[in-house]
Amino acid sequence: RSGLVAGVLLWAGAASGQVVPALPPGQPPRAVTVPPAEPIGDSIYPHLGQKGLDVLHYDVTLYIDQPGTRGLRGVAVLTLTGTRPLNVVSVDLLGPTVQDVRWNGQPAVWQQDVAAAKLRVTLPAPLPAGQRAQLTVTYAGPAGTLVDPELGLDLGWVPVQDAAGRPVSSYTLSEPDGTRTFLPVNDHPSDPATFTVHVTVPPGVVVAASGVGGAAREVAGGREFTFEQRQPIPTYALAVQVGPLERVDGPAVPATGPEGGPVQRRDYFPPDTSDAVRAPYAQVGEMLRVLSGWFGPFPFPVYGAAVITPRVPALETATLLTMPVSSSSERVIVHEGAHQWFGDTVVLGDWADVWLNEGFATYAELLWLESRGDDPGRIAATWYDRLRAQPTRPLVATTEPQLFDASAYLRGALALHALRAAVGDAAFRTFLRGYVQDHSRRPVRTADLLASAQRTLGPVARTVLGVWVESPTLPPLPAWHRLP
Ligand code: ARG
Ligand code: ZN
Repeated sequence: RSGLVAGVLLWAGAASGQVVPALPPGQPPRAVTVPPAEPIGDSIYPHLGQKGLDVLHYDVTLYIDQPGTRGLRGVAVLTLTGTRPLNVVSVDLLGPTVQDVRWNGQPAVWQQDVAAAKLRVTLPAPLPAGQRAQLTVTYAGPAGTLVDPELGLDLGWVPVQDAAGRPVSSYTLSEPDGTRTFLPVNDHPSDPATFTVHVTVPPGVVVAASGVGGAAREVAGGREFTFEQRQPIPTYALAVQVGPLERVDGPAVPATGPEGGPVQRRDYFPPDTSDAVRAPYAQVGEMLRVLSGWFGPFPFPVYGAAVITPRVPALETATLLTMPVSSSSERVIVHEGAHQWFGDTVVLGDWADVWLNEGFATYAELLWLESRGDDPGRIAATWYDRLRAQPTRPLVATTEPQLFDASAYLRGALALHALRAAVGDAAFRTFLRGYVQDHSRRPVRTADLLASAQRTLGPVARTVLGVWVESPTLPPLPAWHRLP
């Protein structure tokens, strides 16, 4: 997003009538300036993140006094280190007002640059590479407003009202950079981290979030729910929902999870969710069996969905899909399920490579339909017809509008289909499992996939994939004969 757009969005947020809570008494005015740090250098979102900053864990405490509004209060404790020595730590934060910042427990020198959507901290002494430190940020809403320019859709912390305009619930929809609307964060997928999330809500409200747990304890003014996301995930893959949710626990899925263990099942539904909307979630166990057969063990010990009522795209939030009622079909659930491997575990090194997420997730739809008896050649031909009817491009994106276009999804999927058609199912399966294993929790670029293909499948396969990745024109539809 350009500076101009960001400025307009900030202005729109400020003008929407919400009042920023007063700072606690005794807070000194923040007149200091902290020099900007070098951002990660993403080719689509050059302003996001800090180069050399490695956040290992976010311990997040949120107080949601009124679900369905932008109001929130929070304390975030970031356990972090540097891959190079750091003099300044700079995190992304869009919307909330920072009230207090501590470095290893001591009051810090800091600046909230609202225009740049950064919180910057001058370190009392340089942090040597590899040494750990704790950054504690106390802040209060309103959560930031951020609109996806392609879909005109609210990103980040999104409040939901009923037809009469009464506040009801809130959900997160953060891909690519919405997490910074409710949390100070190194907001780039190349820095995945673990999360502990504590959320306090009024009586009767339920919290759902990524990770294991979800038990509530009574606290003053309501209940506190706690979740532990113990496998590192990209920041946009963190799900947090608050509202009148019904939690439904299902039978664990044996032998599909980490180290051959079970995957615990739980879903959350809003009030009055119909049986038709609930029905496809009963297939999740079977989906895990089919997908883990191709990709290797499901990466998390728990899995399910939290269903929302607004008509927005589904999102592959880790261990807990964000699933609109309108997208609650087997096919979309399988797509988001595949992202638990491709996107949430094998994480992006740069947003330009997002086809590595969307191509694999779309191909998983074919693998699922094939397991139900459908003809993969027919599905691939349908995709090809859709692609032929529009302009095409090499798979590495060069502009923001390309990130989630048909090329990322369908040409990306056909690239994998072409590879499979060339090498056969056994080799393709070995390749998929090796790629996941070698790149889990490591940022990948398109070149890494090509190198994997070369290593596992040889130069001919690398060339087949390379043509689909690089050609400015649409390569021919691969002939489909099942190879063993
Ligand atoms: N990753 C989502 C999917 O499962 C798509 C999200 C689209 N989001 C966006 N901000 N354009 O395909
Ligand atoms: Zn997707």
